[in-house]
Amino acid sequence: MSSLRLLGISKSYGLLEVVSPTDLTVSQGEFITLLGPSGSGKTTLLQIIAGIIEPTNGTIEIGGVDATRLHSRDRQLAMVFQNYALVPHMSVFDNIAFPLKIRRHSAAEIQDKVKKALSSVRLDQFADRKPRQLSGGQQQRVAIARALVYNPSLVLMDEPLGALDKNLRDQLQEEISKLHRELGVTIIYVTHDQQEAMAMSDRVVLMQQGRIEQAATPAELYHRPQTAFAARFLGESNLFCGTVLGNQGELSVRLESGEVIRAPSTSNLSVGQDVTILVRPEQMQLLSEGESAAGANIIEVSREGQTFLGAVTRHHFKTRSGQEIRMNSTSSALDFSSGPGAAATVAWKLEQSVVLGGSSG
Ligand SMILES: Nc1ncnc2c1ncn2[C@@H]1O[C@H](COP(=O)(O)OP(=O)(O)O)[C@@H](O)[C@H]1O
Ligand SMILES: [Mg+2]
Repeated sequence: MSSLRLLGISKSYGLLEVVSPTDLTVSQGEFITLLGPSGSGKTTLLQIIAGIIEPTNGTIEIGGVDATRLHSRDRQLAMVFQNYALVPHMSVFDNIAFPLKIRRHSAAEIQDKVKKALSSVRLDQFADRKPRQLSGGQQQRVAIARALVYNPSLVLMDEPLGALDKNLRDQLQEEISKLHRELGVTIIYVTHDQQEAMAMSDRVVLMQQGRIEQAATPAELYHRPQTAFAARFLGESNLFCGTVLGNQGELSVRLESGEVIRAPSTSNLSVGQDVTILVRPEQMQLLSEGESAAGANIIEVSREGQTFLGAVTRHHFKTRSGQEIRMNSTSSALDFSSGPGAAATVAWKLEQSVVLGGSSG
């Protein structure tokens, strides 16, 4: 059963359309991330789902029921915000108990549910503290416990880890993923951080300028982006622009530099069309002098420098037409005795050429 369905949802402020008509179906128990740069409409879309913002057009179904006109509190959902939004003068216990009190649960039930919620976010010892006596990470755990305490069918989170430092963010990402697995609740999670989105989500909805650019699993989005925007937003990329020379058996593309590179054949392209090919930096290899790479794409470059990043070293090159190329290598021992400007040859397998917008066949 679908947990959430958006049909033609849009939002305009005066003449400014900040969310273009959007369709999206979310399955029960799915972890969906709305990912995109600042201003792409993530918060607006989330708040429309929450019932905080009224859509200009379209329909929202939650759990198979038309919720478009329902008040926020009747939508069986909970929200977690970046700034925790805890009530400062209430204890941790009372903050978490609050949604249960509104829903008129019995004192015994409240006691039991709050205890379980506290334990699920590992704050058993903190029930009597006030929010200000907690660290940022602990306050956000309280907010998460408060969201989960009454078993909502849908939890909405808007950049919940945005105010925390990197280590704490990694730790809480894992905790939220674990809670999601254990509780089987549907989560719609907003972030502008592509790594966070990839690490946590069943499916990523990439947004740009109020539109869904592409919705896919993290692996699909990374390995088969449909557009240059998607390729760039999800990791590092080398993009080659050219025109189709041939498309039988394999796709061959002439670059502006005159060089020809090849990709798996793509059904929707014909000779003479413009096309962009993506090659991820970790798919490229450096050929040593005299080394050949049968069947691979090969491109002559000059060396620009390298950056040590810990797990990988990033090598910078330039093609004959001046395009910058990045190649990532796990071996930092891959050293060059030759300095900047030295000629080199970069190679990658035909299958590692990803045709943007292409459908294989
Ligand atoms: N009340 C409003 N009036 C006018 N424009 C708004 C309003 N709220 C948001 N916007 C605009 O809508 C766009 C999307 O905003 P938002 O949904 O907050 O983006 P995100 O969460 O992706 O950063 C932005 O350009 C923002 O300036
Ligand atoms: Mg936002």
